Amino acid sequence: MPDKTPLDAIPEDSKLELTLRPAVLDQFVGQLRIKERLNVLIDAAKHRGDSLEHLLFSGPPGLGKTSLAHIIAKSMGAAITTTSGPVIEKAGDLAGLLTTLQKGDVLFIDEIHRLNKNIEEYLYPAMEDFRLDIIIDQGPNARSVRLNLPRFTLIGATTRAGMISAPLRSRFGLVNRLDYYPAADLQHVILRSARLLELDIQPEAALEIARRSRGTPRIANNLLRWVRDFVLVRSKPPVTVEAADAALSMLEIDQDGLDEMDKRLLEALIHKFDGGPVGLNSLAVSIGEEAGTLEEVHEPYLIMEGFLKRTPQGRVASKRAYDKLGLKPTGSQKELF
Ligand SMILES: Nc1ncnc2c1ncn2[C@@H]1O[C@H](COP(=O)(O)OP(=O)(O)O)[C@@H](O)[C@H]1O
Ligand SMILES: [Mg+2]
Repeated sequence: MPDKTPLDAIPEDSKLELTLRPAVLDQFVGQLRIKERLNVLIDAAKHRGDSLEHLLFSGPPGLGKTSLAHIIAKSMGAAITTTSGPVIEKAGDLAGLLTTLQKGDVLFIDEIHRLNKNIEEYLYPAMEDFRLDIIIDQGPNARSVRLNLPRFTLIGATTRAGMISAPLRSRFGLVNRLDYYPAADLQHVILRSARLLELDIQPEAALEIARRSRGTPRIANNLLRWVRDFVLVRSKPPVTVEAADAALSMLEIDQDGLDEMDKRLLEALIHKFDGGPVGLNSLAVSIGEEAGTLEEVHEPYLIMEGFLKRTPQGRVASKRAYDKLGLKPTGSQKELF
């Protein structure tokens, strides 16, 4: 669920994702403010000959959190160990990870909001004082053992910043929220990827794909891959706007980048719930999707694009959603517009 994209129609190609993943900060497109801060931190840490402080990245899937973690480790010349919140079940698992680190190494914990609360408590002194107090044995033989840890850097990533507890959050030196990318940045991502894939694409076609990528580099790359295959079979290079449009229409990705699930959500909201307000869970059940996926993957984009509003009473369709479906608000929604 965490890294699920709305593009399940396209088979995953993890090898390709690795090829396209930016390796250094200069290749990482956009997010200028975050890159600037990271440059300062990295340069300062190198200058002091010290490890980097702990960093947290939050934001919807596919915006570059994992890529940044790898880039940072690489620019510090450090090794990176990757794990994920739900995988660390016992204090011993955490101890196992932490004790293999060398000074300056990076421990990357993806989906850190899903870390067991009990494990979180062990993490506090590890992050703050680089020590780990673990209890070994049980019953009368139980005793606490203190392990001193090298000065490592914890990088956490989360799609749910709101679910990170305050004590954990406060132990990060820097918290970075990644935002959806403007189309111009995604055009950049696509042109770079096309170069790596040795695909001949017109800049306008790259922009067309960019506009329909929901502000998300991973989606942009997936769509590019689809367009490449489409062009291979149905037309010939270079990729033109027309070819890109035909390819994306075949996936039912519309001009606004909304996919089938986005549209189902808006339709349900308007047809079944009179435009809302309706609770997230009822909405999720009505379209057969998990509430968490709606909240993390679909809603942020729909909200940013002004199709949907979150209110204390529940989700509400906005005028743009009615326009999109070619409908006029009725009943209680009428006076909203
Ligand atoms: N800023 C960026 N510039 C270029 N490519 C990017 C950027 N951010 C993400 N990508 C591409 O999107 C893919 C997914 O990014 P990833 O770091 O795995 O996202 P997250 O961890 O936030 O889900 C990467 O493999 C990379 O190809
Ligand atoms: Mg990731």
